[in-house]
Amino acid sequence: MKQDMIVILDLGSTENTVIARQIRALGVYSEIHPHDITPQELAALNNVKGIIFNGGENRVVDGTPVEISEELYSLGYPMMAIDHPTAKCDKKLAALPDEVTLKSFLFDECKAEANWNMKNFVADQIELVRRQVGDKKVLLALSGGVDSSVVAALLIKAIGKQLVCVHVNHGLMRKNESESVIEVFQNQMNANLIYVDATERFLGKLENVADPEQKRKIIGSEFIRVFEEEARKLEGIDFLGQGTIYPDIIESGTKTAKCVKSHHNVGGLPQDLQFDLVEPLKQLFKDEVRACGIELGLPAEMVYRQPFPGPGLGVRCLGAITRDRLEALRESDAILRDEFAKAGLDKKVWQYFTVVPDFKAVGVRDNARSMGYMCVIRAVNTIDAMTASIERIDYDILEKIADRITAEVPSINRVVYEITKKPVATIEFE
Ligand code: XMP
Repeated sequence: MKQDMIVILDLGSTENTVIARQIRALGVYSEIHPHDITPQELAALNNVKGIIFNGGENRVVDGTPVEISEELYSLGYPMMAIDHPTAKCDKKLAALPDEVTLKSFLFDECKAEANWNMKNFVADQIELVRRQVGDKKVLLALSGGVDSSVVAALLIKAIGKQLVCVHVNHGLMRKNESESVIEVFQNQMNANLIYVDATERFLGKLENVADPEQKRKIIGSEFIRVFEEEARKLEGIDFLGQGTIYPDIIESGTKTAKCVKSHHNVGGLPQDLQFDLVEPLKQLFKDEVRACGIELGLPAEMVYRQPFPGPGLGVRCLGAITRDRLEALRESDAILRDEFAKAGLDKKVWQYFTVVPDFKAVGVRDNARSMGYMCVIRAVNTIDAMTASIERIDYDILEKIADRITAEVPSINRVVYEITKKPVATIEFE
């Protein structure tokens, strides 16, 4: 293995990720593990150079004060305790270490090398995946989103054609999205890719369904059904690749951290389709996932994409989806993205898209009264998607976008700009 590692044992602190990121920022890889890790589990980790017991104000898990297993002390690793007065370490701190203290622990006491970089991370993961998978096959749902794309690229490097990617086009993708998945993964990376165009099936199920929750449920369950059908057609698959990343794991709750939400990517597969998971990104933060994608040679547009909801354009084609409105939505969204890129706003704005409501408004086209759809532009900035502010877009740019959309999308005759924060509004409309 190429990278040294510092293990942070979570003894009830809320600041595990803060210290993990501080250590990684100094060039040393770090992982957070539960307080009751066994010496055997610890020994199975590669290249551990030191341990940090991260206490914190509760130091209590499920009502029981957390004590450190005596066995761990006898392993001989350099150890540091933060906010844990009863720990039997030479180095005890009341709060998170400053940079000088941390550096001295990492480099003088642990003798760690600052060798955490994406090149080494990728090399290590390739080795670990090969060790885990052997000559077996791995199935991966490749949506084309950042996480699944980076996992795919990594697994292709590690196991080549032993990876089977399934890309399900639910008909609610943005313009050219499925095409670019095929271009990058099949044509450029020579992946084993199964492309399923399930547009008719999804749009059929969604016909006349106007309730947003119902639409989401149909899209979610149909997706699992299509994926399951493909999985059943294949033989000899033992593993399921997943684009799980570190925040998914933290939000799902560790033994010592509260559960915020249950994480699931391709969750909900039937019991008889049991796979072992391959999750090579599960220790990476989002920005590190992107850096990993670049290291693996994925195009920047793919790696720096804005977030896109699982139900896709389905939640932006408001009410009951119709094909003509879906087409108007897809085209207007493509124009918006093009103009944002030309104006450099794609690097500045967190999320931006168009929405097409399910009504028509009066307009004039070719000197005659005509009815057309309305297109709403949404452009927001946020840190965590829990709250959001609106981007103050220049009027000249807005006007140019409105002119292009109404000229190039004949069914749209009005463009409006949405100026509501979250809360009271949400980012999406459904
Ligand atoms: P809201 O509309 O709740 O959206 O303010 C917050 C963020 O979440 C995205 N979003 C989703 N992402 N599956 C996803 O993967 C979904 O069903 C979903 N719904 C909303 C939304 O685009 C925004 O970034």
